[in-house]
Amino acid sequence: MAEVIAGVASSHVPPIGAAMDHGKTEEPYWAPLFAGYERAREWMAANTPDVCVLVYNDHANAFGMEMIPTFAIGVADEFEPADEGFGPRPVPTVQGHPELAWHLAESLILDEFDMTIVNEMTVDHGFTVPLSILFGKVEQWPCPVIPIVVNVTQFPPPTGARCYALGQAIRRAIDAFDQDLRVAVLGTGGMSHQLGGARAGLINEEFDRDFMDRIGPDPESLLDLTHTDYIRQAGTEGVELVMWFIMRGALDEKVREVHRHYHVAASNTATGLILYENV
Ligand code: DHB
Ligand code: FE
Repeated sequence: MAEVIAGVASSHVPPIGAAMDHGKTEEPYWAPLFAGYERAREWMAANTPDVCVLVYNDHANAFGMEMIPTFAIGVADEFEPADEGFGPRPVPTVQGHPELAWHLAESLILDEFDMTIVNEMTVDHGFTVPLSILFGKVEQWPCPVIPIVVNVTQFPPPTGARCYALGQAIRRAIDAFDQDLRVAVLGTGGMSHQLGGARAGLINEEFDRDFMDRIGPDPESLLDLTHTDYIRQAGTEGVELVMWFIMRGALDEKVREVHRHYHVAASNTATGLILYENV
């Protein structure tokens, strides 16, 4: 049977990907950020999953304002990096896992999560930057990756509680898949940031650290945060953090924190990474 071995939460700030693509990771601005990723990369290299399920948000690249699915799942054989205005990132095409993806789609929909099924889409920085963070600069991604797309750009996004419940449903689906696969679930986005408006540049370290302290041992204590709470405390784009609950919901009730990294700032964003193992 398939099993969930680990969960990772990570920010997806586009300039992190650009710094890797353009060989700037040793520069003084970037070096401390990348130093904090080392332990997670080592763990990933030593425990490479057979498949990753990567939860992220599209930033009006694959989906525009014409169509905005709340939750979608990519079931294709492969996904090309999106052109976000400067040409696609020079990273490998992502191989999907159609068998597990279709199983997830069926299981989730029968479990009353009405996923949009996507046969064709590109993947933007929300997807490729966390992969670069975890796997480095590679010729090929080390495993297939199934995209789960969440709307957090057009209000109203789903609640944290709904995302947590979706994570739990993903876990049930993976547990019921009859192939021996070791699966990691990645939740991406955040942490506190606001890209526009009068409060552009907002970062709330106290909020972020408290969020990181609680999401492992006591995720349910964070589920009553409303969208307004996120906007007030973590900035308009801080609401991306609801996606971390999908990762957390897919893990055991008790998890072991392997590594944590928090760094202010990369571009306009407070960046965080946490890696959990199921125990
Ligand atoms: C930045 C952060 C994001 O999450 C994003 O989607 C785009 C830009 C930034 O800090 O530059
Ligand atoms: Fe974003």
